[in-house]
This record gives sequence, C-alpha cells and structure tokens, in this order.
Amino acid sequence: MEAMDDMLLANWVNLHHSSINVPSSYLQPPETRPGTLFISSGKTIPVVDLEEHHHHHHADIINQILKASEEYGFFQVINHGVSRDLMDDVLNIFKEFHSMPSKEKLNECSKDPNRSCKLYTSGENHRRDAVHYWKDTLTHPCPPSREYIKYWPNKPSNYRKVVGKYTEEVRKLGLKILEMLCEGLGIRKEYFLSGGLSENPSLVVHHYPPCPDPTLTLGLAKHRDPSIITILLQDKNVRGLQVLKDHEWFGVDPIPYAFVVNIGLLFQIISNGRLIGAEHRVVTNLRNARTSVAYFMNPSKESIIEPANDLLVNGTTQQTIYKSMSYEEFRTNFFHKGPKVESELHN
Ligand code: OGA
Ligand code: NI
Repeated sequence: MEAMDDMLLANWVNLHHSSINVPSSYLQPPETRPGTLFISSGKTIPVVDLEEHHHHHHADIINQILKASEEYGFFQVINHGVSRDLMDDVLNIFKEFHSMPSKEKLNECSKDPNRSCKLYTSGENHRRDAVHYWKDTLTHPCPPSREYIKYWPNKPSNYRKVVGKYTEEVRKLGLKILEMLCEGLGIRKEYFLSGGLSENPSLVVHHYPPCPDPTLTLGLAKHRDPSIITILLQDKNVRGLQVLKDHEWFGVDPIPYAFVVNIGLLFQIISNGRLIGAEHRVVTNLRNARTSVAYFMNPSKESIIEPANDLLVNGTTQQTIYKSMSYEEFRTNFFHKGPKVESELHN
C-alpha cells in the first residue's frame, strides 16, 4: 500500500473508492479496536432544553446540566438560541472545504506563520503516530478579538463570514452554559470572563471519510478534552462519537440541530473534581463521511487554572485536590503525559 503522507485521507479515499482494505498503518491493536459497533446499552447522555418558560425554570435547567456534568461529563442541548440556518451553513462550508483538492486545502491553511491555523491527517503528528486515525482535521484559533481571521481559509468563498458568525454565536452559548454551571456550583457567575479564561477558543473540524472496516479502526482515540468546555456540532445522520461511562462505551446519537456539550479537564480542575472531563472517542462509518465541528473554550497561556476559591469557601469540599498551574504548563503536561496527565495535576 502506498504511503499517504503527502495526501489528505479524504482525497486518498476518493481516489481508491471502495476497492480498498484498511491500510495496515490504520489497524488498531486488539485492545483499542472498537469491534462491534453501536450495540445499544440503553444508556444515553441527557438532553437539556435550554429555553425557559413558566413550567421550565432557570433553576431546573441549571440542575439538569449540573447533574449531567457530574454524572456523565456530557449532555446535549436543544433550544439553545443558535440559528438552524447558521448550523446548516457552517456544516456545509466544512463539507465543501474537505471535498476540495488536497493542494488547495493545504494552501488555504498555510497562511499563518506560527502554524496555529493548520490542516493535518490522522493525529497532529501523522508521521509519529504509532497507529493512524481515520480522519483529516482542520483547526484554527477563533478568539473574540478576531485577530486570526486573516489566517483562516478563504475558500469556500463565504468561509470567513459564516465561520466568523458561527464562532460568535457558539461563544455566547458557551458563556451562557458556563455561567449556569457556575451558578449551580456556587462559583461567581463571571468567573470565566476574567483571568483570560475564555479568551483563546479554537475551532477543530474533523472529517471522517467512509472506512472499509470500521471495526478495525478509530477516527479519534480515547481522550479527555484539554479545554474548559467543548461545544460540538455533529452531522445530523451519521453516528460516531462514543462516551465511556462505567467502563462501557455508548454512542451519542445525533439529534438534528442539537449541540453536544462536554466538560473538559480544565473545568474538572476548576470544579475541584465535581464535574467530570469524561473519556470519549470516535468510531468510523462504512458508508458515510462524517463531519464534526468542535468549539473548544480555552484560556490564554498565562491564565491560572486551579480549583475556584468560591467553591472552597461556600462548598462542602474544603481541600483542593488539584494543583494550581498556568494553562501553558497544563498544555505541556497534557501533551507529554497523554492519558497519564491526571497524576501531574493532583496535589
Ligand atoms: C474532539 C472530539 C468528537 C467528534 O475533537 O475532541 O472529541 O465527534 N471530537 O469529532
Ligand atoms: Ni474530544
């Protein structure tokens, strides 16, 4: 099998159509192979309606998202205020983007001298991955200052306009959810508006082409997100995302026009372990390509990540179980230690 180092997976799969087997570099070892897919265990992550009305009070909504964040670290939200047209437009833009020729895509993603806007196949370092993942990923910062927009792709032609609007709307939703979780936890509502905690969001767009044998591969390895929270838009009809709970994988079935929200490791630290940054992964699909758009709420490099003071004063927990560290230190630990990062975070 020829190497596909110089090509994006979407284009390689297009060239070879369905006449391929899974190349050996993509075969997961037995212990991480998904094997049988989508057996229904009956578990599903909670779905929360964010619209308040006279039978659905603010306090109930807070309780629902708080409980979901404590038990699962994941929930879906509906009636969240982001327009359906915008959600359709943004998914279509990214599908169109990933269907462009390799060269053109790479060209559109090479404007940033610091390479914070980039396109890669498999994991962030394809050549170093022991096993490759069945996806291509486009990522770039999307801070409210808009300073990175000049490095974003400019094709499809309305990319910057649509993605700019989308990231603005999703940011509002993210801040609203964070505010409600703070209220529920007894942390001051403005917590995430200070200390640069929400100033450095980034967008990560995955494209998982159809895979000839999804039982042998993964789109994305088991991981916890290195974010505060992540707000994910997934394709309406294609399954892929799975969450680990009580040692069992179960699927997050797409609900049209819902967002999947998950707690990241940083909020696990800030909540002193009350909310969980749950492990999740993505499996591939035999027939359909899947596109997902993840908005990571991330702090600035200098931001201090530590259990919130308010929590320790008001709450029952008196002792911090996590160390205080800058977001930059956290990233260094996260990328060096991988899944073993937790031990570095504890007091
Ligand atoms: C991620 C992630 C899920 C998906 O980007 O961290 O978990 O469905 N993505 O692509
Ligand atoms: Ni994730």
